[in-house]
Amino acid sequence: MTEHVVAHAGDVAAVERLVSTTVQHFGRLDVLHNNAAIMDPKHIAQDTNPVDIEFDVWDRTFAVNVRGYLAGCKYAIPHMLEAGGGAIVMTISGSAKLGDLGAIAYAASKGAITTFVKSVATIYGKQGIRCNGINPGLIRTEGGRRNVHGAMVDIQLRNTLTPRLGESEDIAAAVAYLASDDAAFVTGAILDVDGGMLCHMPYMTDVMAEYGTTMGFGESREEAAV
Ligand SMILES: NC(=O)c1ccc[n+]([C@@H]2O[C@H](COP(=O)([O-])OP(=O)(O)OC[C@H]3O[C@@H](n4cnc5c(N)ncnc54)[C@H](O)[C@@H]3O)[C@@H](O)[C@H]2O)c1
Repeated sequence: MTEHVVAHAGDVAAVERLVSTTVQHFGRLDVLHNNAAIMDPKHIAQDTNPVDIEFDVWDRTFAVNVRGYLAGCKYAIPHMLEAGGGAIVMTISGSAKLGDLGAIAYAASKGAITTFVKSVATIYGKQGIRCNGINPGLIRTEGGRRNVHGAMVDIQLRNTLTPRLGESEDIAAAVAYLASDDAAFVTGAILDVDGGMLCHMPYMTDVMAEYGTTMGFGESREEAAV
């Protein structure tokens, strides 16, 4: 496509235009990737805890991160049904899975999408539409770099099992797979693309600091040496 369409995900009419322009251009719609989320550091800084957060910050978060995804589905699915099927991929987040020290609205919005993915997969499965989600870990996108910096980068890396943090290409490859016919039998799934960040015991980094890469249970190295 030589042109692109700009649409604010919080504006449902704009999302409708985005879908209809795409269909006009290509004649059909096979894939929807719901990916936009508010990553503006000023907004994220105001997304704190249930006591301090302003209702407006909560509402704006949900307008983009949740209602925007609904709008994508609302306007794209009829075209997919017309085409005999399609694939929907939604970017979620590891924040949907575990509690954290802030970003209460962001986490709740991503939690909502986790269930939304499964509902869409269930409602439209028999009509040939698959719907899957991706939970990225820390990805060094523009938004990822703007919001996670300083000591937080090292903390995230220490808690990631791979030797490096994620890049946009890691997510793009997962989206391409889930959107393709290679994933024809995969629907309602949430794929962690996070370098193993959320698959290990929470005390892993403490254990490594104490014992290196060996397990701290049983005879510790110190006790064995006595
Ligand atoms: N980067 C990470 O570490 C990370 C981790 C977990 C989840 N995610 C998720 O990945 C997705 C993409 O984030 P990213 O890291 O690429 O952020 P980013 O800020 O680098 O890019 C976000 C993109 O979304 C667009 N966008 C933002 N608000 C929009 C709106 N209201 N309407 C339309 N487009 C809008 C921006 O123009 C930008 O192109 C988000 O859903 C985010 O929650 C990212």
